Amino acid sequence: MKSNPILLLVFHFLFLFLGESSSPVHNGVYVVYMGAADSRNATLRSDHAHIMNSVLRRNDNSLVRNYKHGFSGFAARLSKEDAASIAQKPGVVSVFPDPILKLHTTRSWDFLEYNSHVIIDSNRNTLSNSSSSSDIVIGIIDTGIWPEAASFSDKGIGPVPSHWNGTCMTSQDFNSSNCNRKLIGARYYPGPGGDDTLASSVRDSLGHGTHTASTAAGSTVSVASYYGLAEGTARGGFPESRLAIYKVCSEFGCRGSSILAAFDDAIADGVDILSLSLGASPLFHPDLMTDPIAIGAFHAVERGIMVACSAGNDGPDPNTVVNAAPWILTVAATTIDRDFQSNVVLGGNKVVKGEAINFSPLSSSPEYPLIYSETVKKSDADIDEARQCHPGSLDESKVKGNIILCNGESDTVYSPIAIADTVKDAGGLGLIHITPDQNRAIASKYGDFPATAISTKVAPTILQYVNSTSNPVATILPTVSVINYKPAPMMIYFSSRGPSTLSKNILKPDIAAPGVNILAAWLGNSTEEVPKGKKYSPYNIISGTSMSCPHVSGFAGRLKSLNPTWSASAIRSAIMTSATQINNMKTPITTDSGSLATPYDYGAGFITASGPLQPGLVYETSTTDYLNFLCYIGLNTTTVMVISRTVPTSFSCPKDSSSDLISNINYPSISISDFNKRGRVVNVSRTVTNVGEENEIEYSAAVDAPSGLNVKVTPDKLKFTKTSKTLSYQVTFSLTSTSLKEDLFGSITWSSDKYTVRSPFVLAK
Ligand SMILES: *[C@@H]1O[C@H](CO)[C@@H](O)[C@H](O)[C@H]1NC(C)=O
Ligand SMILES: *[C@@H]1O[C@H](CO)[C@@H](O)[C@H](O)[C@H]1NC(C)=O
Ligand SMILES: *[C@@H]1O[C@H](CO)[C@@H](O)[C@H](O)[C@H]1NC(C)=O
Ligand SMILES: *[C@@H]1O[C@H](CO)[C@@H](O)[C@H](O)[C@H]1NC(C)=O
Ligand SMILES: *[C@@H]1O[C@H](CO)[C@@H](O)[C@H](O)[C@H]1NC(C)=O
Ligand SMILES: *[C@@H]1O[C@H](CO)[C@@H](O)[C@H](O)[C@H]1NC(C)=O
Ligand SMILES: *[C@@H]1O[C@H](CO)[C@@H](O)[C@H](O)[C@H]1NC(C)=O
Ligand SMILES: *[C@@H]1O[C@H](CO)[C@@H](O)[C@H](O)[C@H]1NC(C)=O
Repeated sequence: MKSNPILLLVFHFLFLFLGESSSPVHNGVYVVYMGAADSRNATLRSDHAHIMNSVLRRNDNSLVRNYKHGFSGFAARLSKEDAASIAQKPGVVSVFPDPILKLHTTRSWDFLEYNSHVIIDSNRNTLSNSSSSSDIVIGIIDTGIWPEAASFSDKGIGPVPSHWNGTCMTSQDFNSSNCNRKLIGARYYPGPGGDDTLASSVRDSLGHGTHTASTAAGSTVSVASYYGLAEGTARGGFPESRLAIYKVCSEFGCRGSSILAAFDDAIADGVDILSLSLGASPLFHPDLMTDPIAIGAFHAVERGIMVACSAGNDGPDPNTVVNAAPWILTVAATTIDRDFQSNVVLGGNKVVKGEAINFSPLSSSPEYPLIYSETVKKSDADIDEARQCHPGSLDESKVKGNIILCNGESDTVYSPIAIADTVKDAGGLGLIHITPDQNRAIASKYGDFPATAISTKVAPTILQYVNSTSNPVATILPTVSVINYKPAPMMIYFSSRGPSTLSKNILKPDIAAPGVNILAAWLGNSTEEVPKGKKYSPYNIISGTSMSCPHVSGFAGRLKSLNPTWSASAIRSAIMTSATQINNMKTPITTDSGSLATPYDYGAGFITASGPLQPGLVYETSTTDYLNFLCYIGLNTTTVMVISRTVPTSFSCPKDSSSDLISNINYPSISISDFNKRGRVVNVSRTVTNVGEENEIEYSAAVDAPSGLNVKVTPDKLKFTKTSKTLSYQVTFSLTSTSLKEDLFGSITWSSDKYTVRSPFVLAK
């Protein structure tokens, strides 16, 4: 539970330089991306071969990866001059320094500790204990896997699907016996020595990949818990599915060239869904053609593979969402209805609510002396430092044997874990830590040290008590997990927010799912300190959009299994149009600071378990839509022709291509930027496809719009028949007042007797 501030610094430092060619993390490798692999254009195919051969001829050892299944290109050690010259060759879309992307577990201290994780339990009441199996393969691009985890047992699962074309690579501590009918594929991307971002085995040494894989697809495990906490049946979003693991990350991050190789392999292997809980830093705004995830995902989606990605953990600032290409399903994070309570009992048996994960060995009666940290200040220490219990500020001789009350209300320097270490190392018996609300939402894990976090609202109760008596006493109770906690879900502060810097005319993120204090499978050998009297827990509790993404990937696998003919965009649409904006108190979902959540926080809303199974209508986003998007953001016809394998030979970018037209792409949400500049009257069109059981069915439109905004839907009734399964409509947004002063949010809902199909919209200045 010790944090390492030096390592932390180095880590952030590395990322600061990411994306610059002079970056200290640049390994001399460039990615050369050349578009579709099986282009119908023979000239192009021979150009590609020629470019690669000319590089190889110069130096046999320079090739790091060769991409040829899903798309065309390679990664190689090149001089800056060679890289620049290759970029000019026909058929080359982009050449960029091999970037490092990062995992989307919560930023800061916890990120380096990697000390918690395991199973999806937020659906605990809605999933059946099915033991049947499905041929859907969910690919996880992450830190590898701990194959012995119970979540990856293949009990009750049928033979490996005949369409599977993947492999189980042998590596250090991992061989084909580690794969089974559940875990059907495992690949990793070793490389030239000296690059710490490349791994030597599929085996997970961080826990992150094991956690995300079990969240998406873990088999049902009847008794899972974190040392007895959050106990229950653990199962992934789609336990019947198969898993294919692509290890691309190490503790130093995830190499772009490996991520592309994973996409390339996953496409040839035959996965159905890909889940990525990692991304570029929002500071660098990689453009689409230098972002390995955007490139890889494009080719996967063009072949019918659905790709879900985490939105990032750089919230709550706006414009922080990453993985925002329109072909990706982008996932934000919320809390769940479970709270980890570790309460404080004061003398006189007054109970004060606290939140943390600890296995406090203290007696349940308040019999331990309690001291405010200010009063045990080291003589030469600063009073502010002592109030916050910063390292070196406390007088050990006075701390010893006492529970210390520390005020971290405005602490922006040290993590709760670092404060607990300070108190513990000074001989303190326990810690009561006053913290801002957002720091309590993510439960800190203190092992068996009695430490808990209390809100600033209840802090005066304890402070007054300490003042009012000459011998204040207290105790800290061991954590109990409380379910049906309200309100939930709530947007968590770290979840990255829209609008997207890629394009404000596509709303991102798309959807929100549970990503706080999530229990799932973990390493079998982590070095985490085991609380006294407990046996090692092969489960862990961690937080991040890393955890929310696989909830959605697993669910998407279930949808694909039930509806094998649905496209990736139909699945995305079903998930988005059935999302809820209401919490378990039947009030609108809020952020953790109490403000109403907006589509910039959660896209269409929070994923529901049953809605996507019966969407009624879906918005199909076609490859042509995506190609038009490439035109609208500024690529020319020649480049778009190189990128796509399915592009018709007659394709050309629409004449008046501009970013405004992005609003017209057939997406399940609507986003219109520059509304004032666009004349304050904007039309968009959408097309819906009837996927309900009924051939003959009528839908009517209802609009929820803020006052001052006119939203006209034409037609406002859609009548589907056996022969017209697909119908279009227009929406005209116009302002009654002079101009848009702030971004506006609303929704358009199509409903029939049986189905409701909701699309959020955003109008931006
Ligand atoms: C094939 O690719 C070459 C090189 O980019 C280009 O000049 C040519 O027009 C393409 N041919 C067709 C039929 O698209
Ligand atoms: C699933 O199994 C668990 C443990 O075996 C049991 O407690 C639970 O009731 C079962 N749920 C359903 C829906 O059958
Ligand atoms: C895989 O490794 C295990 C443990 O090292 C060993 O017992 C087993 O025989 C190996 N299996 C294969 C197929 O090499
Ligand atoms: C199966 O994998 C091999 C090698 O990875 C690849 O060459 C082949 O194209 C794949 N088959 C299919 C149907 O994708
Ligand atoms: C506690 O007592 C000190 C000194 O008597 C005083 O400054 C402080 O405001 C008191 N705090 C509370 C919460 O009553
Ligand atoms: C856990 O196992 C992995 C793979 O065998 C190994 O790389 C790692 O060093 C082990 N960790 C510990 C703490 O033993
Ligand atoms: C298309 O864009 C590429 C990359 O910017 C450029 O090299 C090429 O000359 C352009 N082609 C045409 C026909 O404008
Ligand atoms: C918007 O669409 C409506 C209905 O199709 C049409 O009557 C109107 O002229 C359009 N307005 C603009 C500005 O294109």
